[in-house]
Amino acid sequence: MTIQAELQKTINDLVHPGKGILAADESTSTITKRFDALKIPCSEETRLAYRHMLFNTDNLNNYISGVILYEETLSQSTNGLSLPALLASKNIVPGIKVDKGLVPLANSRNEKTTQGWDNLHERLQEYKKQGARFAKWRAVYTISDSCPSYVAIHSNADGLARYAAICQENGIVPIVEPELLMDGDHSLEHCSKVTQWALHEVFNALFIYGVKLEYIILKPSMVIAGNKHAQQSTPEQVAQETMAVLKRTVPSAVPSINFLSGGQTPQQATANLDAMNKLGPHPWHLSFSYGRALQEPALHSWEGKSSNVPLSQKALLIRAKLNSAATNGEYTTAMENE
Ligand code: 13P
Repeated sequence: MTIQAELQKTINDLVHPGKGILAADESTSTITKRFDALKIPCSEETRLAYRHMLFNTDNLNNYISGVILYEETLSQSTNGLSLPALLASKNIVPGIKVDKGLVPLANSRNEKTTQGWDNLHERLQEYKKQGARFAKWRAVYTISDSCPSYVAIHSNADGLARYAAICQENGIVPIVEPELLMDGDHSLEHCSKVTQWALHEVFNALFIYGVKLEYIILKPSMVIAGNKHAQQSTPEQVAQETMAVLKRTVPSAVPSINFLSGGQTPQQATANLDAMNKLGPHPWHLSFSYGRALQEPALHSWEGKSSNVPLSQKALLIRAKLNSAATNGEYTTAMENE
């Protein structure tokens, strides 16, 4: 198969009406914090048990087309079956987070940039052998009166594009994730302005690096007021502002936009996605790539106990199904109680 055919096949397998992506790629330190908060012991074994439980949920592939894994998970197995092979057996495409997290960005306003260049080409070849067909790289932008700074906008755009080009060269579909953080007291209008700037620069950089837009998935944050702002955004406001910004900045060659949840509650993330799809049709498939908004109820139900597995899998399936409805603009809050 040519590289192009390989990229196209992965896009075809990931981009389906009514389906989205489950982000289960928390780094060890992040998942430790999530487990600690619920007093669940965090070890290689418990992380495996938790993720195996999520991926083994019956009928998950009715709503989920891909799962993003952390490096550790990619090489874990149960009963001789690796987790990527388990997913593939359920027609779910395994992906891999390839960035190495955030580091301070010199000469910025206390901002961060993403690292992970070392051996990226070689690492991708290895991940591919282990079953990964798409990748993720997360760039993070702070919003405040003085942020993001020009250097943060430039460094993150360049980083995302450089990573995306290396992925495509290896036949791996890159998820391009520019996340403007919800933390802070900024207004919806301020978020809109800086999200537009960030996305504009990301697509400019993707062009410079020769990235083929037909074979990427964009994973942006929604345009939403900061979590400490006096006026919290309604789903209708989020939908109007986010769509306006995306239409101005994202070419229609991009097949799919899969939002992150970024600290929104599960219900909020579903309602916001639904409101955007109610404004459709849009030039791109508009779906989800949620971490916390899909996993939170499942993690709470699990409590680290094997006896809670059915309950926890049910909780995951409920959120996946509601978000699937939201990709069609068919979600109602009444469905939360069904
Ligand atoms: P959240 O949906 O919890 O923001 O996670 C998505 C993700 O992959 C962040 O990089």
